[in-house]
Amino acid sequence: KAKEKVHWVCSNCGYSAGQWWGVCRSCGEAGTMKEFHETKGSDNKVSGFAVMDGAVGSWLPHQEETQLRPLRLAEVNRGLDQLHWRIPLNGPCGNEVSRVLGGGLVPGSLTLVGGDPGVGKSTLLLQIAAMITEECNDSEASPVVYVSGEESVEQIGNRADRLGITEDIYLYSSNDIEDILKKVQYLSPRALVIDSIQTVYLKGIMGSPGGIMQVKECTSTLLRFAKTTNIPVLLIGHVTKSGDIAGPRVLEHIVDVVLYMEVGTLMYLSFVGEKYSTHRMLRAVKNRFGSTDELGVFEMSHSGLQAVSNASEMFLSEQHLDSEILAGLAVAVIMDGSRTFLIEIQALCLSGSTGSRQVNGIHANRADMIISVLIKQAGLRLQENAVFLNVVSGLTLTETAGDLAIAAAICSSFLEVPIPNDIAFIGEIGLGGELRMVPRMEKRVYTVAKLGYRMCIVPKTAEKTLGNEGLEKMTLVGCRNLKEVIYTVF
Ligand code: TYD
Ligand code: MG
Repeated sequence: KAKEKVHWVCSNCGYSAGQWWGVCRSCGEAGTMKEFHETKGSDNKVSGFAVMDGAVGSWLPHQEETQLRPLRLAEVNRGLDQLHWRIPLNGPCGNEVSRVLGGGLVPGSLTLVGGDPGVGKSTLLLQIAAMITEECNDSEASPVVYVSGEESVEQIGNRADRLGITEDIYLYSSNDIEDILKKVQYLSPRALVIDSIQTVYLKGIMGSPGGIMQVKECTSTLLRFAKTTNIPVLLIGHVTKSGDIAGPRVLEHIVDVVLYMEVGTLMYLSFVGEKYSTHRMLRAVKNRFGSTDELGVFEMSHSGLQAVSNASEMFLSEQHLDSEILAGLAVAVIMDGSRTFLIEIQALCLSGSTGSRQVNGIHANRADMIISVLIKQAGLRLQENAVFLNVVSGLTLTETAGDLAIAAAICSSFLEVPIPNDIAFIGEIGLGGELRMVPRMEKRVYTVAKLGYRMCIVPKTAEKTLGNEGLEKMTLVGCRNLKEVIYTVF
């Protein structure tokens, strides 16, 4: 049997490649690459992209990689002129996601969306699938495929109904990666969603789905698939108790973009209680195509996620309605990996009592030090007070960046003056009562500004280096020491 050479030709612009692409690399049209057979021996000019095709290899691990060789820079660039083209996501919700992604979905990228079970990952991804489909209202255009290893197509259909999705999304329920990719490649979709990485497996790899080997190999296979076909793949990953996706952090190294979806209750927890548990935050923890500073805020409604584009204003007005703010509360800004959290510190000073201290979520030594510094350097008569400290939501504060909020909460309770709930505190306290810089200052400050705070108290040096530009409606107030903080806030 004579060996056939297969070409893929774009029916829109005539661009020809040695392999199939989901989106034509010349004209950007999706689903236009059609198979074309050619018997060996005929005129077989190598196109400018043929070298590139070899370099990306095949997506299944047991298939042989072909014609690998180092490329000259000029050669590489020629093939990458589509690099700046992104799949736009429209509508308020789409804009919010788009911004977090760095301006749209990059063709051929692998994006991991992580979050606790039930946070709304499947909802978000189904909505994204609809937004991408909506983008091309041409019936000839390739579809978006949503594959679930967790739910039946009927269940996904029900969710789509609830979300009011009418777009023509393709649904598939399977756990076998090889099966999924073969079916999907046949459809040559605009984008592929896999829900979730913990439920898919690759034949011939040890372990059950969700295991470290399976998760790693499946992700690598999906990455190869994305790079080979130029189809963007969106991958859902459940975060385990320890805070990692599927246990191994290795996953984050494999993929191009890592987004985390979180419930927005950590902020204002005791001010407004459950009210804000409908808020969801989406942030990039890693992004090969953009910044990781973007934060998307959504609200989970009865019909899916709605963008909250004016998060700042909304938080502020809601707060002002909330007339009674208790003394002894202060907001700290802490980092967990590359994620920023706002947590509330509560203090209760009881006068006329022995100087006993009860702390929860703060290291006792650190609390003792801060109390001593407040006595000595700020003149607070805490010796005659019992001091109780608590970190809301059961987190344990391990960073010294929370020092200032702890001190502020204690002052507030001692002076019986509430701190307005649109002020946040960042800073380490030294034995002289001086405020010191902490790592990732810029990132912390940005998050606070983004969440609509009016004021952020930081060490003087931080104010000098960061300035007040790009901080929305927030003012950065630099203080040298605890005394200055007290004059500023109380
Ligand atoms: P889901 O997307 O299934 O979460 P995940 O995939 O991260 O596990 O969403 C879970 C919750 O969202 C569920 O408790 C119901 C709620 N929800 C709404 O409030 N509104 C909606 O429109 C939808 C689809 C879900
Ligand atoms: Mg789900």
